[in-house]
Amino acid sequence: MDALKRQAAARALEHVQDGMKLGLGTGSTAKHFVDLLGEKVAKGMRVICVPTSEATRAQAQACGVPLTTLDEIDHLDLTVDGADECDGALNLIKGGGGALLREKIVAAASDRMIVIADDSKWVDVLGRFPLPVEVIPFGLAATQRAIMSAFAQSGVSGQMEVRKAKDGHVFVTDGGHWIVDAHLGKIPDAPRLAGLLSVIPGVVEHGLFIGLARTAVLAGAQGIRVVERR
Ligand code: 5RP
Repeated sequence: MDALKRQAAARALEHVQDGMKLGLGTGSTAKHFVDLLGEKVAKGMRVICVPTSEATRAQAQACGVPLTTLDEIDHLDLTVDGADECDGALNLIKGGGGALLREKIVAAASDRMIVIADDSKWVDVLGRFPLPVEVIPFGLAATQRAIMSAFAQSGVSGQMEVRKAKDGHVFVTDGGHWIVDAHLGKIPDAPRLAGLLSVIPGVVEHGLFIGLARTAVLAGAQGIRVVERR
């Protein structure tokens, strides 16, 4: 699986040109991309990058990849990031690694987003992977009730739980927020659910990435498949 992730990352790297401003994703697949980009930089490629998490920032720094922020540049040419699920419209579930907020800010500031993944992430309908919803701890129960109502309005239901870190404590995002993971099974109308979740005051961001990815690079046992959004 890790070899497939690296293959997808390597194919996405072919889209990187000298002088580009890049968004760097988070997770085990994006980690390969940063690694390979570091090798290019060491050979003289000039890029400037915005990381989507503190973990990616640390890795990029260790690889010698030059970093900046969205306060210093006005847009990015390309973001390359992983995903937890990707459907045929290239709508995504992201946030399994907890970086969905920065990932969405960076993707939205990019002219183009390429998703890299092994082909197990390709699904007919989003929702098998628990949907991460980043929330403010204040008023959590009220926010969860509003989230439940959004689920009902969009025809889905399921259990929610506050994400825990490996040490058993509540997982805290880079932004200082919490994440609620919702086990929905299937999300037949992801754009509608995304819209409903976005207007809940205690929701900082959710893991539905609608209309952001333009290209998916999926690596499988049969080779690499590149899907463009229609
Ligand atoms: C992190 C993410 C990741 O891109 C997603 O979880 C996929 O990770 P991996 O490449 O390790 O499977 O959204 O917040």
